[in-house]
Amino acid sequence: MRVLWIALVIFTVTCDQYIIRTRKNAQHVYSSENIAPNHDYVFGNLFYGFSAELDAQQAIKLEQNPLVISVTKSKPLILPIKDFSNEQPNPISNTTEWNLDQLDGVIDKRYIYEGDGHGVDCYIVDSGINTNHTQLQGRAIWGANFCTKEKNIDRDLDGHGTHVAGIVGSKDYGVARNVTLIAVKVSGETGGNQADLLAGLNWVLKKATTTGRPSLINISMGLGFDEAINLAVQALTEAGIAVVAASGNFFSDACGISPASSPFVFTVAASGPKNMFWEKSNHGKCVNVIAPGVNIKSLTAWGRYVGDDWYFPGMSSRRWCCCTGVVHQEV
Ligand SMILES: *[C@@H]1O[C@H](CO)[C@@H](O)[C@H](O)[C@H]1NC(C)=O
Ligand SMILES: *[C@@H]1O[C@H](CO)[C@@H](O)[C@H](O)[C@H]1NC(C)=O
Ligand SMILES: *[C@@H]1O[C@H](CO)[C@@H](O)[C@H](O)[C@H]1NC(C)=O
Repeated sequence: MRVLWIALVIFTVTCDQYIIRTRKNAQHVYSSENIAPNHDYVFGNLFYGFSAELDAQQAIKLEQNPLVISVTKSKPLILPIKDFSNEQPNPISNTTEWNLDQLDGVIDKRYIYEGDGHGVDCYIVDSGINTNHTQLQGRAIWGANFCTKEKNIDRDLDGHGTHVAGIVGSKDYGVARNVTLIAVKVSGETGGNQADLLAGLNWVLKKATTTGRPSLINISMGLGFDEAINLAVQALTEAGIAVVAASGNFFSDACGISPASSPFVFTVAASGPKNMFWEKSNHGKCVNVIAPGVNIKSLTAWGRYVGDDWYFPGMSSRRWCCCTGVVHQEV
């Protein structure tokens, strides 16, 4: 009986996913520590490091390795609240939404834009994009999938990424109506985790520097203050890729979350209709700009559009992102 119990204890040692930052090429570390079979992502483009499933003993041992800077648990991502309850069967075409109206600086029920984002790549690091959505006019392409929970599902099962893509670049609800949208899936119906997000960003850095096209990325998800995420966005910015992030919507200091806290991102807080600061938006000195973020109409992954009940300041980040895209285009 006792033997059996011990055996059970041994077999129930739990593993967690960790992010390991190293001083140089991570391979030296995971090979020497014999954890090669367990490592999943290697982050050479953003910073030296990797992610791996480890038990507590292995994590402690790694921490003592002189080549290792830090060993932290991969955290769940804080995903936006979404509400598709107002989903409508048919898109309304040329109605000017309040948020678009605000954006050109003159409130006159029109959205007048100088740039349409053509030639600019907008990487949507999110739950994927329904690249077939007619509102996206074939300008959305599938980039990569790093969502561990939906490994072989190269579609947007959640809807959030398609919504973001629609705000950035859809024909009737978008800011930049001729931008190229690239889906980088890092979250799914049941959420996402930090290691998957880092893997997605690592991919974008390589990809965007390879294409040489003006590129931007907006991240509408986040987590508590985190050094690895902030290092990642710094690496992207330093490579010339504009990074836009939502301030978050739990009425607290944006400096307490990542990547919003990084000085290397544009952090966007939300205003609501009537152009007032939205009371749930995060705030503080880490916010760079305030943009419309409430009652934003956009697409669902199911070929439809959503009514006016999706409250999330992240929407403003995509919007601003598009503006950044337009600026890039004009340079
Ligand atoms: C959209 O614009 C077209 C032409 O400008 C117009 O005929 C049509 O009535 C408009 N549709 C809506 C829903 O406003
Ligand atoms: C969109 O941009 C492409 C070039 O990237 C251009 O050929 C096309 O005419 C543009 N479409 C519109 C509607 O302006
Ligand atoms: C687009 O449609 C094709 C054909 O139905 C489907 O195989 C593919 O998965 C769709 N792509 C996405 C990203 O939803």
